[in-house]
Amino acid sequence: MAHIQIVYGSNGGNTQLVCEYIAEELNVLGHNVKNDRCEHFPEKELTTSDLLILACPTYEHGSLEPNFLKNFWPRIQDTDLKQQACVVVGLGDIKYDIDYHIESARILQTYVETHNGRLINPSLMVSGKPLPLLDKLVKGWCTRLHAKIEAL
Ligand SMILES: Cc1cc2nc3c(=O)[nH]c(=O)nc-3n(C[C@H](O)[C@H](O)[C@H](O)COP(=O)(O)O)c2cc1C
Repeated sequence: MAHIQIVYGSNGGNTQLVCEYIAEELNVLGHNVKNDRCEHFPEKELTTSDLLILACPTYEHGSLEPNFLKNFWPRIQDTDLKQQACVVVGLGDIKYDIDYHIESARILQTYVETHNGRLINPSLMVSGKPLPLLDKLVKGWCTRLHAKIEAL
């Protein structure tokens, strides 16, 4: 059983839906999961779990979700992730800007890599409305992630 911390930004609710599904799924697989919005999440708690899941959708031509960008992102720039095990969840939609499709996942991956964190699993990339993708794409990702967590 691992302690897992999810921190997410969500403007329209899609990322929130995906994170709630991930939390439930990992819970069923036997883990202790905390799922928090980013706005008031204390940055010093980024390194207190066995696994940190950072989740954010893409907005405005390859940028991060506005609340995440304004209220969380600046606070975590000086954080040393100290080899913290991490995974990333990015959302986007092909209809907005093909050049920056799900760019948030790449931004978060770079953040983890440049702040001394350890990506233990490929990122989950969700394109378009997440509801039809939960029981296949997201569930499958959770199952593979669970295997990686067990090997930590
Ligand atoms: C104003 C706006 C700009 C967006 N820009 C992008 C983008 O550049 N690339 C992308 O892949 N998706 C883009 N999206 C799609 C969102 O990332 C997608 O709808 C996501 O599911 C929203 O997540 P949320 O409901 O958690 O806020 C954009 C959406 C909006 C409303």
